Amino acid sequence: MAYEKEIGKRKTFAIISHPDAGKTTLTEKFLLFGGQIQTAGAVKSNKIKKTAASDFMEIEKQRGISVATSVMSFEYKGTLVNILDTPGHKDFAEDTYRTLTAVDSVILVIDCVKGVEEQTERLMEVCRMRQTPVIVFINKMDRDGKDPFDLLDELEEKLNIHVHPMSWPINGGSEFKGVYLLHDKSLNLFESSKTKISDDVVKLNDLNDPQIDVLVGEKNANKLRDDAELIDGVYGELNKTEYMHANIAPVFFGSALNNFGIQELLDTFITIAPTPLPRPTASRQVDPMEQKFTGFIFKIHANLDPKHRDRIAFLRVCSGRFERNKPYEHTRLDKQLRFANPYTFLAQSKEVVDYAYPGDVVGLYDTGNFKIGDTLTEGEDLQFKGIPSFSPEIFRELINLDPMKSKQLDKGIEQLTDEGLASLFKQDLGSRRFVGTVGELQFEVLQYRLEHEYGAKCRFEHRAIHKACWMSGDAEAIKEFMKFRMTNIAMDKDGQPVFLAETAFILRMAQENNPKIQFHTTSEFKV
Ligand code: G4P
Repeated sequence: MAYEKEIGKRKTFAIISHPDAGKTTLTEKFLLFGGQIQTAGAVKSNKIKKTAASDFMEIEKQRGISVATSVMSFEYKGTLVNILDTPGHKDFAEDTYRTLTAVDSVILVIDCVKGVEEQTERLMEVCRMRQTPVIVFINKMDRDGKDPFDLLDELEEKLNIHVHPMSWPINGGSEFKGVYLLHDKSLNLFESSKTKISDDVVKLNDLNDPQIDVLVGEKNANKLRDDAELIDGVYGELNKTEYMHANIAPVFFGSALNNFGIQELLDTFITIAPTPLPRPTASRQVDPMEQKFTGFIFKIHANLDPKHRDRIAFLRVCSGRFERNKPYEHTRLDKQLRFANPYTFLAQSKEVVDYAYPGDVVGLYDTGNFKIGDTLTEGEDLQFKGIPSFSPEIFRELINLDPMKSKQLDKGIEQLTDEGLASLFKQDLGSRRFVGTVGELQFEVLQYRLEHEYGAKCRFEHRAIHKACWMSGDAEAIKEFMKFRMTNIAMDKDGQPVFLAETAFILRMAQENNPKIQFHTTSEFKV
C-alpha cells in the first residue's frame, strides 16, 4: 500500500516551448510556488544563450548548470512534482525529444505575441507520436498579443490537437485586467508582481454578478460575458479522458514573469495530470505498480571535470523500487551493475538516495556502460521502446588530424555519440565516419570535447546528405538496394543499415523505384 501511495503522489513532466516563450521563467515560478527557491532569477542561467555558439567556456559552464537542473523536484499540496528540464536551444532539440520519453505529461508554453512557433510544432509532433497529455500555458499576457480566439484556432490548426480554455483573459497588454476562471466562476485580477505567490481570486455567483463591472469596468465585463457564452457553447466541460489520451489540451492564460496564472495552472496540473504511466517494452507493457524494478536511461551527460571521464546517466524508474547498492541487470550488455552513489535532485541540490519510485529520475555515475535507451531490470530481459533516433539534418565526415591519436578519437566519438550529442554512421567497417546533428553548435561542442577530454584533434568536412533513412520491408529488396547503392549505405550505432540520401529528390526517386521498401526518417519503427 505504501508503495502504491508513493507512485500515486508522483507527477513527472516537462515544460516545453519555442526558445524565449518563457519556459525558464515558468519553471522558476513553479519552484517558487513549491517553496524550493526563495528568489526569482535562480534558474535563469539554465539555458544555452543564442550568443554562445562559439564561446566554449560558456557552453561548458552552461552544460554544468544544465546537469544541476536536469531534474527539479518539489512537493506541492501533497504531490511530488518532478520537472525534467529540456534544453531551449534548437540545436539540442534531440535531447528534448529523448527527455519527452521519460515524462508522463507536458506543459507547453506559448508566447501570446508570437503564437505557435516552429519549435513548438516539432515538439508537439513528438508528443502526439507518444500520446503525451498536454496542458497549454499562453504566456506574456501583459504584452499586446494575438486575439485569444485566434490563438486557440492557431493551436488547433498548427498543433493538430483540440483545445479547451480553462481560463479566459480580459484584454491584454497594458489593458490586461486578469483572467476569468471558466470552471471555477471566479476572477483572478492581474497585478504586476514578480514575487507574490498567491493570486487575488474573487469568487462570483455567475457572470451576471455586478462585481465584475466594478472590478474590470462595464465594457470589459460585457465583453467577457459574450466571450464566456461563446466558449461555453463551443467547448462545454473538459473531458479528462480525452486529455489523458492527448486529444484535448486544456489552455490557461497568464504571465509567468508576473507570477500571474501560475497557481491555477499548477493546481489543475496536480489534479488532472497523470501519475506514472505504464511503458511499452519490445515484449510487454510494464506497469508502474509491478513489484520488480525496471527503468531506462534517457539522457547521458559528461562529467563536468574533463579529467575524470565518467558520466552521469539519467534513469527513469518505470516500475518497482530502485535501491542503492542492489545489483541490477543491464539487459543490452547482459551484465550486473550496482550503484553505490545514485542521486536524486531537489531543486538545484542533488543528494544520494537509497530508494526511488516510478516517475522518479535517478542520476547514476557511469564509466561508459550506458547508451541512451538502455534498460535496467531485476533480471528479466526487457528493452523499453520508444527511444527513437531521428534523422539528423546536418551531416559531416569526421577527419582525424592526428593519426597517433586514432584510438582516442575512436573512443571519444563513440562515447560522445552514446551521450546522444550527435548520430554516428559508419562505412567501410568504420574507416569512414559520418556525424549527423540537428544543429551546427554540436559540431563545435564535439570538436572541443574530443580535443579537451580525449586529446584527439579532428575536423568535420561538409557532406551533402539530405536525410538518413532506416529501411523496412522486403528483405530481398533491401539487400538488392543496398548492393546497388553501396556508397550511400552506412551503419548506425546499433548496426542497422541506413540510406544516406543526398537530396530530397533522390530520396523520392528511391521510394518510387523501390515500392517494396519503406524509408523512415526515425528509427522508432524498428524497436
Ligand atoms: P525560455 O526559457 O523559453 O527561452 O524563455 P525565458 O523564460 O528565458 O523568457 C524569455 C524572455 O521572456 C525573458 O526576457 C523573460 O523575462 C521574458 N518573459 C517571460 N515571461 C514573461 C511574461 O509573462 N511577460 C513578459 N513581458 N515577459 C516575459 P529576456 O529579456 O530575454 O531575459 P531577462 O533579461 O528578463 O533575463
